[in-house]
Amino acid sequence: MTAHPGALELHVEASRIEGVIPPALRGGRVLSNGPGWLDIGGRLAHPFDGHGYVRSFEFQADGSLKLRARFVDTPVYRDELAAGRLVHRGLGTNVGSHFWQNLGVGAPRNVANTTIVPWAGRLLAGWEGGAPYALDPETLATRGEETFGGALAKQATLAHFKIDSAQQRLVSCSIAMGPQTKITFREFDAQGALATTKEVALPGQHFAHDFVITPRWYVLASNPLRMKFGELALTLLGASTLLNSIATKEGPGELYLIPRDRPGPLRTVTLPGPAFVVHYGNAFDEGQTVHVDASLFEHFEFGVEFGYRGPDAPLDPSLPDTRAPQRLYRISVGPNASEASWKQLARHAIDFPRVHPEHDGLDTPALFGTTRADTAHSDPFDSLIRVDLKDPERPSEVWTAKENVLVGEPLLAPEEFVLAVTSAGLEGRSNLCVFKAAELSKGPVASVPLPLLPYAFHGTWSARG
Ligand SMILES: [Fe+2]
Repeated sequence: MTAHPGALELHVEASRIEGVIPPALRGGRVLSNGPGWLDIGGRLAHPFDGHGYVRSFEFQADGSLKLRARFVDTPVYRDELAAGRLVHRGLGTNVGSHFWQNLGVGAPRNVANTTIVPWAGRLLAGWEGGAPYALDPETLATRGEETFGGALAKQATLAHFKIDSAQQRLVSCSIAMGPQTKITFREFDAQGALATTKEVALPGQHFAHDFVITPRWYVLASNPLRMKFGELALTLLGASTLLNSIATKEGPGELYLIPRDRPGPLRTVTLPGPAFVVHYGNAFDEGQTVHVDASLFEHFEFGVEFGYRGPDAPLDPSLPDTRAPQRLYRISVGPNASEASWKQLARHAIDFPRVHPEHDGLDTPALFGTTRADTAHSDPFDSLIRVDLKDPERPSEVWTAKENVLVGEPLLAPEEFVLAVTSAGLEGRSNLCVFKAAELSKGPVASVPLPLLPYAFHGTWSARG
């Protein structure tokens, strides 16, 4: 988990693959990104601050698999590779344990480690709070920061993007925090040219990591924040971190609906209970009604992610999450309503909710996520789940990995297949597992043996081989 694996070029022959790679996947690939290097000179970076490590799992015509992996070659990566130690502070990471070691070492590191999105002839490696980095789609070589002709320059852009497949638009969301929070949605066409911009201002401070779109709306949960000013002062003095300086505000949950295809003010909608949203599954319009499927926390705490216990303690991703679990809800907002209704969609606690990659913003029959078999926690993940959105009363399909095996985000491929990387840390190996989407609980139809790969945050299917 804390290794610095370096670039990889692997070929796994079809004879070494358990089961058979479905012909529909051959010629395509799945991409993922995550923090590939955390132990930097003997000091552990927070997982949010580990260097972006992009993986391309390419299904060959003969049923074999090629894996190519590269670090994103950011200035921060180059500096730390050369120095052999942490040089730049991060969202949750200081370069040294003494405050004076952290003074004057600049803004949080953009390590391009969170998402990977193909668009307009490049792969975008996204990060929380800066421009994405563009990579060559074949070699994964880093081309540099991608501002789309300056549109995203000096913008704190979310790592998550949305793709509107019908309109061939890439949608980004940038946030500027002050006494108000300014949120800007931008849409880029298939060539990467800026097509539309929509800006709104929200009173107070808000947290956003992800968002959803419909043809008519941009949708965000309120996620109000309070600044811990004492901790913020310590951060400025080099003795704490930004992640320790923010906390969530208690109160009823709220949703913002921002008109997408027309001018108009945002709508604020009150939810039936507290709700803090990190990841959304999908949203769609049904006439004038908006439905939003999202994983909701009742309470949320920053700083305890992925078993991080500080720079000098080993990372333990198998530690049970100390947070309350995330529950998947469908939130429905009627025409002109100021209050929403909601309904829990699954008994299990679910993160990484995903729908078919071409169905973002549209009504779709199924949602996939990672979960835990025990239904009491949403992570560390040991299972994949399929939720029937057309018949939520029908029990979800669940597949659980063997003991001590962690399961990554479900990545949806065309022709109704789902892929996920599993990690058996104790055995030192990973597997790329391929499932039939409709028969998830039957287990993988193919499993590709791989060396143990660092944990990934997010990925996507890409038709290009
Ligand atoms: Fe995310």
